[in-house]
Amino acid sequence: IDLRTLRKPLFKYTSCVAHTHPVSQTSCWKLKVQCHTRAFTKRLVCLWICGSVGLCLWICGSNVFFNHFQDSVNEERVAHVLAEACIRMHLAEERVCRNITELFRDDVIWALQKSLLWPSEACALLVGPSCGKFDLYAPWNITLPKVPKPPVIPPSAPAAGSPQNRVLFLTDIHWDQEYAEGSAADCKDPLCCRNDSGTPSWRRREAGYWGTYSKCDLPLRTVEHLLQHVAKSGPWDWVYWTGDIPAHNVWAQTRAQQLSELTVITRLIHKHLGPNVTVYPAIGNHESTPVNSFPPPSEHGNRSSAWLYNTMAEEWAPWLPEQALKTLRYGGFYTLQIQPGLRLVSLNMNYCARENFWLMVNSTDPANQLQWLVQVLQASEDKGEKVHIIGHIPPGLCLGSWSWNYYHIVNRYEGTIAGQFFGHTHTDEFQMFYDEETLTRPLSVAFVAPSVTTYVNLNPGKKGSLEEVTVC
Ligand SMILES: *[C@@H]1O[C@H](CO)[C@@H](O)[C@H](O)[C@H]1NC(C)=O
Ligand SMILES: *[C@@H]1O[C@H](CO)[C@@H](O)[C@H](O)[C@H]1NC(C)=O
Ligand SMILES: *[C@@H]1O[C@H](CO)[C@@H](O)[C@H](O)[C@H]1NC(C)=O
Ligand SMILES: *[C@@H]1O[C@H](CO)[C@@H](O)[C@H](O)[C@H]1NC(C)=O
Ligand SMILES: *[C@@H]1O[C@H](CO)[C@@H](O)[C@H](O)[C@H]1NC(C)=O
Ligand SMILES: *[C@@H]1O[C@H](CO)[C@@H](O)[C@H](O)[C@H]1NC(C)=O
Repeated sequence: IDLRTLRKPLFKYTSCVAHTHPVSQTSCWKLKVQCHTRAFTKRLVCLWICGSVGLCLWICGSNVFFNHFQDSVNEERVAHVLAEACIRMHLAEERVCRNITELFRDDVIWALQKSLLWPSEACALLVGPSCGKFDLYAPWNITLPKVPKPPVIPPSAPAAGSPQNRVLFLTDIHWDQEYAEGSAADCKDPLCCRNDSGTPSWRRREAGYWGTYSKCDLPLRTVEHLLQHVAKSGPWDWVYWTGDIPAHNVWAQTRAQQLSELTVITRLIHKHLGPNVTVYPAIGNHESTPVNSFPPPSEHGNRSSAWLYNTMAEEWAPWLPEQALKTLRYGGFYTLQIQPGLRLVSLNMNYCARENFWLMVNSTDPANQLQWLVQVLQASEDKGEKVHIIGHIPPGLCLGSWSWNYYHIVNRYEGTIAGQFFGHTHTDEFQMFYDEETLTRPLSVAFVAPSVTTYVNLNPGKKGSLEEVTVC
């Protein structure tokens, strides 16, 4: 992690600039939304947050606030204007803009209401600190136990003959059920190579049989072929699978589809790798619908993530012990012992993500996940156990406070954390951690694996690694 990037403003891709214009005798707000990112869903969420706040000011005047959203007529108006904005800003084609607005609308407006954003906070968000205090993503600190950090032992290569394990690392499968060979590989939608991407003309490329270098995900045959190949290159001692099962058709996803894709891919992996290979999954940001929508466990009822986490617990039960399933159902994270001397922690990185609009309600250590991680790491340190951490979004891409706290934890437990494995970026990378005092001594590394999907313009990837596990 480049520490400098963490110091950037929390609203990295969002800057809302508002001007007041005296029009006759009333004040009218003019909103300029700048979303500094090219990624479609990020721009959309940015537009939603900035746009709803601005529109609310515009519709309701600057004194009255989000309780007016409860009025369904206003909700309707806001949704309509946001869909129009999406179309006019050319974020996507009209039908995509309209469908995604419908899909996000209820949850985003609910979260905005619950975020208790008052006029002064909205003003601070829009205009800056001169007119109010805005601390939705206020800084926070986890508490470390009083146990002093053990002396640092410089790393050394394992002795010859140390036990070795072969670990397979899969991430970002993104299976597209509607992938259609021969359809247009270039289109205006966030996802192409489908029958409704339009017909390829002499100028436009066609979707291939196995996949395409374009904005396309994969047909099931390619996923299956990859799994067959992977099974043949075994034996594997275990597998890390760091999420993102569904395709990028984020404007048209239903809970039923997401769950059916989760089930199909889980069973396919189980079938190809066999019952003797344990797979340890982590939850990606695309598992939910609307995409990135992961309410913390304090949200109950039909809006909660219970529909998703409960099905995951059912499907992953052959791989995970009961205690792990319990925390999976609660917050989508878990820990278990892989073998004596080695523990795994699977984090739900959606609780660190800028794009998870539920964090507008409360971004302080959602689900108490990092405080829980500290407890797990302390217990492992006490036992002399090593720990691997897996998750979907790499920690360097999280909200500032979450990233800083995670960095701090990695510093404290550098002697215990033996490996970190993430996905999400679709490319083969790593992020470095340095000592906090001097920022010169590298002390940990997070490996980021390439995606299985070709989205965007990639070859399918997987990683196999030889883990030397030194049991102390
Ligand atoms: C968090 O800890 C840092 C470093 O010790 C300190 O500077 C900061 O004020 C703390 N922040 C909060 C919100 O407690
Ligand atoms: C796409 O259209 C073709 C031709 O009409 C049809 O055979 C195919 O089943 C369709 N594919 C999907 C995924 O709907
Ligand atoms: C958009 O929504 C309409 C109505 O709900 C639906 O008929 C249509 O299939 C959706 N379009 C896409 C591209 O998903
Ligand atoms: C799984 O392991 C058991 C016990 O070691 C063995 O009998 C069985 O053949 C293995 N199954 C497969 C599919 O490898
Ligand atoms: C729960 O929410 C989903 C998605 O918003 C919706 O389709 C479903 O109808 C809701 N169920 C109930 C019982 O309200
Ligand atoms: C936010 O969540 C944290 C931890 O989950 C909790 O301690 C805190 O009280 C919450 N803050 C508010 C304003 O609800």
